[in-house]
Amino acid sequence: MTVLETERLVLRHMEPEDADALAAALSDPVAMQYYPHAFSREEVAQWIERWMASYDANAYGLYAIVLRKTGKVIGDCGHALQDVDGKREIEIGYHVCRDLWGQGYATEAARACVAYGFETLCAPRLISLIRPENFPSRRVAEKAGMSIVGETVRKDILHFVYAISPPA
Ligand SMILES: CC(C)(COP(=O)(O)OP(=O)(O)OC[C@H]1O[C@@H](n2cnc3c(N)ncnc32)[C@H](O)[C@@H]1OP(=O)(O)O)[C@@H](O)C(=O)NCCC(=O)NCCS
Repeated sequence: MTVLETERLVLRHMEPEDADALAAALSDPVAMQYYPHAFSREEVAQWIERWMASYDANAYGLYAIVLRKTGKVIGDCGHALQDVDGKREIEIGYHVCRDLWGQGYATEAARACVAYGFETLCAPRLISLIRPENFPSRRVAEKAGMSIVGETVRKDILHFVYAISPPA
């Protein structure tokens, strides 16, 4: 199911058949350097199952990013329900295959997810939890209109809390 369309991208619900394409991003040790480890094939399959379950439970989740010009899945971006220090928040998350970094794809997807989060999900605010040393991710959050509003510790690791409120 297609959720969002932008100039260069389509964001649609993940499917089990996306495992190979998503593994190119999620099983890459360089791309996953700010995670505990790169995902195994089993973890990629579980990742897809998690977001498919989230579509049913929450009506949102992380989506597969399809590059229009090739029709290929190049990563994921979307909305993730998170518990941040006891408060339920909707996080914008993103991963893009390394060979396509630096072309603005994550920013394009994240901006669309910010608009959808306010207009369709009616979120009171949207956040991203980002490790301080993850400068590309911080830059994407900033270009999507977010700024740092605090810090939180997850699995013993400090994360900046980036956030954006709905337009007035
Ligand atoms: C974060 C990620 C999704 C960005 O994808 P992308 O499509 O390359 O992002 P964009 O091209 O839209 O923007 C990247 C920005 O980071 C900047 N950037 C890249 N490396 C950087 C660095 N080392 N220091 C500072 N900025 C950096 C780019 O210059 C660009 O900003 P600009 O447009 O102002 O020049 C990608 O790097 C990724 O998949 N990382 C691994 C997964 C991850 O960490 N996800 C976030 C978890 S919180």
